[in-house]
Amino acid sequence: MSTHNVWTHKGTFLLAAVGSAVGLGNLWRFPYLTGENGGGAFILVYALTIFAVGIPILIAETMLGRNSRRSPIMGMRFLTRTHNTSRAWESIGWLGAASAFLILSFYSVIAGWAIHYTWQMLTGSLAGADAATIGAGFDALLASPALLTLYHTLFIVASGLIVGMGIHKGIESGLRIIMPALFVILLIVLAYGVANGDFAAAASFLFTFNLADLSLEGWLAAMGQSFFTLSLGMGAIMAYGAYMSSEISLTRTAIAIAIVDTAVAMVAGLAIFSLVFGADLSPGQGPGLMFVTLPLAFAEMPFGALVGGVFFILVLGAAISSSISLIEPVAAFLVERFDLTRPQAVFAMVMASWALGLLTVASFNVYAEGTIFHTLFGRSAFDFIELLTNIFMPLGGLLIALFAGWALTHSEVMKEMRTNETWFTIWRLLVRFVAPAAVAFVFLRAIPQVEGYLIPAIGALVIVGAFAAGRTFLVDDSQEQ
Ligand code: PFF
Repeated sequence: MSTHNVWTHKGTFLLAAVGSAVGLGNLWRFPYLTGENGGGAFILVYALTIFAVGIPILIAETMLGRNSRRSPIMGMRFLTRTHNTSRAWESIGWLGAASAFLILSFYSVIAGWAIHYTWQMLTGSLAGADAATIGAGFDALLASPALLTLYHTLFIVASGLIVGMGIHKGIESGLRIIMPALFVILLIVLAYGVANGDFAAAASFLFTFNLADLSLEGWLAAMGQSFFTLSLGMGAIMAYGAYMSSEISLTRTAIAIAIVDTAVAMVAGLAIFSLVFGADLSPGQGPGLMFVTLPLAFAEMPFGALVGGVFFILVLGAAISSSISLIEPVAAFLVERFDLTRPQAVFAMVMASWALGLLTVASFNVYAEGTIFHTLFGRSAFDFIELLTNIFMPLGGLLIALFAGWALTHSEVMKEMRTNETWFTIWRLLVRFVAPAAVAFVFLRAIPQVEGYLIPAIGALVIVGAFAAGRTFLVDDSQEQ
């Protein structure tokens, strides 16, 4: 059974996809990962992946959704049948569902921090506070499993309620207010950072590229982040694409999404690092970065309590518009496959993810160190879940690129992309060869035992070449009459 849902307006897909893309990934994760991974070098890998790999895969993923008009898992099942390919490609859907479930579990915990800060701002309890007080307040928040669980629960329930209500009510109308307001407030914070912080130091930190600064895991983190920030490789965009009107050009939409998303991350990065360097804070302080620097700026700014309150409400809005896109693909699958009602499906997904989220909660306090996770994987449960998503999302994206590049026919692609032959050819080269090679390269480069650039480059070429030569593996011969 297909979902048959279609967005109310032609432009809603763009809005919903930007809503999904712009979120904690831009405002919270991008600045802190950049800070931890040496600045410009991280951004270079991140930006290259967005443009050479992200945009083509964004087009590919939307295409698979709109072509199948089903939730990702059922959609891939449908596409493997209609294109007579191996059913193994269904793994795209399953991998996506697993990533969504993992991401939502920690996303909701972090978004919960923004609830805390909204409250702190609006009650004025941080007015005039200095860096040490604000830092101590953040540490106290992380040290409290009860508070973190409360906020995590509030956030995930709110997201679940919105998705439970369906795609039209709530999602569409909410996004129309939240997104423009977010951009305006972000510019205010940037202006404050420029006026009161060290903008020159921020710009040089972000835009001085020296690849030697990037650790092996930094490569993986940069690529993982570029998929994370565009919501790629896990079915969210595919699920939204399934509701997209057939008339719109995917090419222009995808480029617009990537540009807006990157611009928001850059503005957030510039604003936050201006404040970090202005206040002599460390750029590499990890997940707390945004939650320490921005409250500090708001504590000093005239009308800071109000501006800060509004800012954190908008962070919450951006986070909710992303978290609903994490719930949608899995919920839609449960509805299609098991005939659950939408609220039942949402409840199942949200409950499971909520429970897993408790591990992230505990990673900041009771299980901060010395647990089985640390012994086995050398990191906390939160870091481990993040690492998994850094692998799953690019892997999902790689498979999406290969499937769309090799299995879809010329006329199917042209119908979706609505461009000329030149753009078609460029896109197909990118999804058939460049994107898979880039993902393979970064995966190989991130393996500690592999030194330098040569081996990953050769490895990537071999993998892509093998795939091109053996592309008939795509086709399941047993199904041919
Ligand atoms: N793109 C979102 C962000 O940057 O915050 C996070 C995200 C949402 C990732 C939805 C994946 C996804 F499917």
